[in-house]
Amino acid sequence: MYILAIESSCDDTAAAVTDGRTVVAALTASQVEEHVLYGGVVPEIASRRHIEAISGLTDAVLQQAGLQPAQLDAVAVTYAPGLIGSLLVGVGFAKGLAFALQKPLVPVHHLRGHIAANYIQTHLKPPFLALVVSGGHSHLVLVNGYTDYQVIGRTRDDAAGECFDKTARAMGLPYPGGVHLDQIAMPGGDYTLPHPRVDGNPLDFSFSGLKTAVLNLLHNAAQRGEQVNVPQLCGCIRKTVCDILIQRTQLALERTGCTTLALAGGVSANSELRARMRQLCEQRGVAFYCPPLPLCGDNAAMIGVQAGYELAAGHTAGLDLNARATMDICENPF
Ligand code: KG4
Ligand code: ZN
Repeated sequence: MYILAIESSCDDTAAAVTDGRTVVAALTASQVEEHVLYGGVVPEIASRRHIEAISGLTDAVLQQAGLQPAQLDAVAVTYAPGLIGSLLVGVGFAKGLAFALQKPLVPVHHLRGHIAANYIQTHLKPPFLALVVSGGHSHLVLVNGYTDYQVIGRTRDDAAGECFDKTARAMGLPYPGGVHLDQIAMPGGDYTLPHPRVDGNPLDFSFSGLKTAVLNLLHNAAQRGEQVNVPQLCGCIRKTVCDILIQRTQLALERTGCTTLALAGGVSANSELRARMRQLCEQRGVAFYCPPLPLCGDNAAMIGVQAGYELAAGHTAGLDLNARATMDICENPF
C-alpha cells in the first residue's frame, strides 16, 4: 500500500512515500534560509516557495522510491491546521494528483501526523498519552485509537515553541529560535523566571507570562547598561519550559493511569525535554517514546503514516476538500 504524502502547513515543503509504518522515500525543501532574513516565517513568501517547490519535490521523491505515479494507492495531504496560504498549495496539488490518478485523497490533521512520527520503526499502539509541543500548539492528548483523540490539557496562550522562538529572537538569536536556544543553553544561571498559575484545569499550560518576564528582564538590563549572560538565560528559559511541561505531564500520567507516553512536535527535539521526560518515565515504569530527531519537525513521512490509519477508518475526501487554518485534533474530517 504505497501512499504519497504532501506536507506544506508552514515553511517546509515535504513529500514522502510510505508503506504502512515504513518510510520508502522522503524529501524536504526547507525555507529557513529565506525566513531567517525576517526573523520569522513570512506567510506570503512561504506560499510562493511551496508552489515553486512542490512539483519537483514530488517527482524527486517518486524517483527515490523507484515508483511510477500509477503505482500509488492513495494521495495524502496535511489540510489543517497551519498557514492557510501554505496549506492551500499542498491541498490543491494533492487534489490534482488524486484526480489525475483516480486514487483516494486522504486529508491528515498536522498534529495527528506529529503523533504518528512515533509509529515509525516502533511497535507503539494506542492507548497512550501524547505531549504535543510545536511552534503553534501545546496539548496533552489521550490517544485512545489511531483516529480517536481526547485533549485533556492545552495552552491558554502561547505554545511552548512560540515561547522559545520569541524569547530567542529578543536575545538576538536567529530563526528558528528554539533550535538555537537549545544549542547554546548553559546550566548554572540564577535568573528567576515565573512559573504560571493557571486557574481551572490543572493540566492546562501558560507560557505568555514567562515570555513577558524574559522580555522585561532584557529591557531592564539594556536600560541599566548591564550585560546579560545569554547562554545562562537560555538555560533558565529551557529549564522553566521543561519544568512546566513535565509537571503537567506527570499529573496527567497520575490522573489517567496511562503506562505509555509519547512526545510529538518540533519542541520534542529539545535535548533537556527528551532527557528529563525519559528519566521521569523510567522512574514511574512508564514506556517512553519520542521521534528520532529528523522526524520531530515538520515532515511528510509522519503524514503518510497517519494517512494509512485515516484511510483504514474511511476518512477520505472529495475534490471539494478545503484547507483549514485552525482545527481541533479530535474532530474527524467528515
Ligand atoms: O512542529 P514544528 O516543526 O512546526 C510546527 O508545527 O509549529 O515545530 C517548530 C517549533 C519551533 O517553535 C522551533 O523553535 C521548535 O519547534 N524547536 C525547538 C527545538 N527544535 C525545534 N524548540 C526547542 N528546542 C529544540 N531543539
Ligand atoms: Zn509541525
